[in-house]
Amino acid sequence: MATFTHPPDPELDDRVARIDPAIDLVAEIRRLLHERDAIFLAHYYQESQIQDLADVVGDSLALAQAAARARKQTILFAGVHFMAETAKILNPDSVVVVPDLRAGCSLADGCPAADFARFKAQHPDHWTVTYVNCSAQVKAMSDIICTSSNAVAIVKAAPRSQKLLFAPDRYLARWVIRQTGRDDMVFWPGTCIVHEIFSAQEIAALQVAHPGARVIAHPECDEPVLALATFIGSTSALIDHVKSSSTREFIVATEPGVLHQMQKVAPGKTLIPAPAQGNCSCNECPHMRLNTAEKVYLALRDLTPRVEVPEAIRVEALVPIQRMLDFSARDRTPPAGD
Ligand code: 13P
Ligand code: SF4
Repeated sequence: MATFTHPPDPELDDRVARIDPAIDLVAEIRRLLHERDAIFLAHYYQESQIQDLADVVGDSLALAQAAARARKQTILFAGVHFMAETAKILNPDSVVVVPDLRAGCSLADGCPAADFARFKAQHPDHWTVTYVNCSAQVKAMSDIICTSSNAVAIVKAAPRSQKLLFAPDRYLARWVIRQTGRDDMVFWPGTCIVHEIFSAQEIAALQVAHPGARVIAHPECDEPVLALATFIGSTSALIDHVKSSSTREFIVATEPGVLHQMQKVAPGKTLIPAPAQGNCSCNECPHMRLNTAEKVYLALRDLTPRVEVPEAIRVEALVPIQRMLDFSARDRTPPAGD
């Protein structure tokens, strides 16, 4: 896993340790989902068991859309904090619980609200397109939210005369600039600790060993990795590409949790996770991987930990999120990919 140390949570460890080993965890989770009038949303980077238990498995955009339709008393969100926060912003009256409150995101953590406010103040006449991987406070200061599924279409739709700011991922920003020609777009210099660690050198070596394999990559990867890719897109777009392509073998440069759904939709294909620098297993997201089936069970049983957003911030953050959802509901262009 990418190097990141979370603060200890002895109370959660203790609750996990005290789960009765005799219970059927899967059956209990299913029972509690019904009892709590809950919907279970999970990201593609979750471990396979969690994906198989969820009502909806998706990328950030699909999960925000599912949250917007939810109408449930409880939302259980297995992903990272900003995703659950978006669900809460869209569903203030629902209880939103997560398996582990420490599951954050390096992009969101690397863009503190006070610094972002200063960045915006330095560019007063710019329109702010902010990647969903950020806090509710940063969303509240943004004009429109995007995900890797719709960032290109959103930037393309902006008038050419409108100056643009993009935050917080610099590699996604650069990819969007290459796709749209908006080389005047100013961007925040954040990175994802998982995607920046893929090694172009190791991937090129893998290509020699697998000459028939195509490289596909998430746009949060650095340019040398993206330069090797024949297709670049969000987690959903990568899965769709593996399914529809006539290619039989892929080197996949994103978090390897995504391979579970890829293998399901394209069972005959060979999927090789792209190696990280030094061949460590740090291509797993340390935040996503904090979540386990045991913690999912506890979150449903005890309805904690809950994700809360102060109402004043929620009301402001809802505006750019809703703009994105409305844009994507109207937009007919296929998700961006190379
Ligand atoms: P997607 O929007 O493609 O699911 O990406 C989310 C993410 O956190 C990638 O690291
Ligand atoms: Fe954040 Fe990177 Fe993990 Fe995605 S993979 S949640 S961008 S740290």
